[in-house]
Amino acid sequence: MRLELVETAALIDGLWIEADRTFDVTNPADGAVIAQVADLGASETKVAIEAAHRAFPAWAARTAKDRGAILRRWSDLMLLHAEALARLMTAEQGKPLAESRGEVVYGAAFVDWFAEEAKRSYGHAIPTPDPSKRLVSIKQPVGVCAAIAPWNFPIAMITRKVGPALAAGCTVVVKPAAETPLCALAIARLAVEAGVPAGVLNIVTGKDSGAIGKALCDDARVRKLSFTGSTPVGKLLYAQCAGTMKKLSLELGGNAPFIVFDDADLEAAVDGAIASKYRNTGQTCVCANRLIVQAGIHDAFAARLTEKVAAMKVGAGTDEGVTIGPLINAKAMRKVGDLVSEAILSGAEALTGGGPDPLDEDRFYTPTVLVGVTPDMRIFQEEIFGPVAALVRFETEAEAIELANATPFGLASYFYSRDVGRCWRVAEAIEAGMVGINEGIISTEVAPFGGVKDSGLGREGASEGLDEYLETKYLCFGGVGG
Ligand code: SIN
Repeated sequence: MRLELVETAALIDGLWIEADRTFDVTNPADGAVIAQVADLGASETKVAIEAAHRAFPAWAARTAKDRGAILRRWSDLMLLHAEALARLMTAEQGKPLAESRGEVVYGAAFVDWFAEEAKRSYGHAIPTPDPSKRLVSIKQPVGVCAAIAPWNFPIAMITRKVGPALAAGCTVVVKPAAETPLCALAIARLAVEAGVPAGVLNIVTGKDSGAIGKALCDDARVRKLSFTGSTPVGKLLYAQCAGTMKKLSLELGGNAPFIVFDDADLEAAVDGAIASKYRNTGQTCVCANRLIVQAGIHDAFAARLTEKVAAMKVGAGTDEGVTIGPLINAKAMRKVGDLVSEAILSGAEALTGGGPDPLDEDRFYTPTVLVGVTPDMRIFQEEIFGPVAALVRFETEAEAIELANATPFGLASYFYSRDVGRCWRVAEAIEAGMVGINEGIISTEVAPFGGVKDSGLGREGASEGLDEYLETKYLCFGGVGG
């Protein structure tokens, strides 16, 4: 299949930069090399920061309406090229084509929404306590921002950072994941076509994430860093940013509880669990990780879930009807395999799946339902990031909340119940940044996405997501009289 919009050079200061060294981008479905991309490091990152620093004053000085018009053109171009972008995404990331198409729309929506929202970044007129003074607060762009993006949503996790940053008047240096740089470069090309000026959006591709990340953290001109990825890397970046006192957004790992109470609508709960658990082959930070199911509905839920999961089609994302693609790499295959094998050795039972898929045991994992999982198992404690539903049985509401909160993570959470009182109680008691109540898909550009505890800091999307790229400045006018 011929791919379109393939760029292999990095984008710095409006120029496409080739490099002596390149790295391979491979298709996770078959290991084929799709492209060889410029492999940049710390010194090129500095050049990108300089470009973003130079471009900042002019971009910040433009009106929000003017920036918004450019961003809307960018969003429109992404939608115009949606099919090409989706095919590129499936090629480098592996997700089923229908999901890639969905992500292009989701990704473009962040740009479109923030293009509008920046026009409403209001300050306040503050009632004065002193008649001789007048007090006002205004919002101003933070400055140069760094965005370090993951491989699981190669477009949306970039636009969720870059959309609000550019809309607010910031300039950005993006480091896309080494597994999925092609989508980043493709949308950057469309940004240039839309009229984003040189230096405002820079894309630094490279395999040495540590060196590029450190260069971004150490540079005092970078005033904010936004990262989506693992908790250990997030903590490292947090520490590295201390020296230059950057603003930080960290969207880190999760261990989402998905509670099903006896009074739940069984079919809705099964469908919600499938949508949440198996989206992107289980490789999202908000995937249901622990399915905590009340004793009275447990067996019926497990049986219906198993029936539907066993019918899922595994294969390359471009194949018709496929709902479960490959895992991103061999390390991911090993991790999922180990978690499941250990759980089974400790007494869990696979009702379907339970191992690598015969289609290609090095790349695909059969969608799995495990029952008999207990809190002492690693599969309960760690983020699985694969197509495995781990079911835990409980008796009382208090026990469900205790199980849900028995983790250092607190990103997404879900529960199903038809008791309105319980819905309020449980939603308030769960330690998480987001709660899906009778709903398995909660992500949208209009709502604040983010976590608590080890799941990170800050929010993306919604007006909160714009605030992350703005500073509040207080102006005190003295000598006014009165
Ligand atoms: C993520 O996995 O980090 C993001 C998922 C989403 O936006 O729904």
